[in-house]
Amino acid sequence: MNRILVIGAKGMLGRDLIPELQSSFHETELLAWDIEEIDIRKEQETVARIEGARPSIVINLAAYTDVDGCESNEQEALAVNADGMRHIALGVRRCGAKAIYLSTDYVFDGKKGMPYFEDDPPNPLSVYGRSKWKGEQSILELTGDGLIIRTQWLYGKYGRNFVTAILRQAKEKKVLSIVNDQIGSPTYTVDLSKAISQLIRKKTSGIFHAVNRGVCSWYDFGRTILKLSGMEQVNVVPISSKELDRKAVRPLYSVLSTQKLKQESGIELRSWSEAVKEFLSLQPDIGKST
Ligand SMILES: NC(=O)c1ccc[n+]([C@@H]2O[C@H](COP(=O)([O-])OP(=O)(O)OC[C@H]3O[C@@H](n4cnc5c(N)ncnc54)[C@H](OP(=O)(O)O)[C@@H]3O)[C@@H](O)[C@H]2O)c1
Repeated sequence: MNRILVIGAKGMLGRDLIPELQSSFHETELLAWDIEEIDIRKEQETVARIEGARPSIVINLAAYTDVDGCESNEQEALAVNADGMRHIALGVRRCGAKAIYLSTDYVFDGKKGMPYFEDDPPNPLSVYGRSKWKGEQSILELTGDGLIIRTQWLYGKYGRNFVTAILRQAKEKKVLSIVNDQIGSPTYTVDLSKAISQLIRKKTSGIFHAVNRGVCSWYDFGRTILKLSGMEQVNVVPISSKELDRKAVRPLYSVLSTQKLKQESGIELRSWSEAVKEFLSLQPDIGKST
């Protein structure tokens, strides 16, 4: 393994994954690209840039991640999330590399009532979910040993996320309304980065779910963030997804089973509550400037 190319390297996950890969793969050259270096919407440019770089692994983190924005801009969502992955897969095939794609619980409809396994049939409810599922299909159809890692509810030091949003709102509003009927696993980008690194080391391929252990609602997550930040006194009101009325429909119970990750690769991420506790202890100023 002599060269790893990360596309979407300046995003929230990318900025934690790059140092993780640097420390885990000393012997490997790392290329960290974002839209300035490659626009994955453009087929010829993408294929040529990847072929020219001759990587052995390409990790695609680049995405149009504004889930509500995707509803009003379906063409752009498909161009980045679906076609973008197809263009990367074509480039990867040309140089015999391995492709890794980050996907989402939003490929599921959340109606199963039990944790989703990797081979459960997707049925996305939103444009974002559909576009990511199409991306998954490209990597499976066009590359031999591709790896798809589905995750959810990411937060980290870099980029806008639920943790920073709650802390900011707690300073601005008297009452916070948070949905309590969507259930999932908040996942720390640092923990996910370590899991990605381990999956690379083990030369894993196929579909894997990777999230922090344990489940909660956004409401529970919000209350935990406030408690750990010494803001328990903030008034939080549970509301339903219907009341919040976002553009994109989200799955209600999109818990991802990590049984396969544990059994086949021996990887288990720590509990979401431990992870968020550490995250907040390392970022005492978070929310103050966002
Ligand atoms: N965030 C979550 O909760 C979550 C949950 C499940 C799965 N995922 C998946 O995990 C991956 C990483 O997520 P993230 O939250 O780190 O995303 P992010 O912060 O939005 O980062 C995505 C990066 O891709 C870049 N990008 C956008 N369009 C591009 C294009 N046409 N060509 C090249 N680069 C482009 C973005 O640049 P700009 O900022 O300039 O647009 C950004 O730097 C994504 O594939 C996402 O679908 C995320």
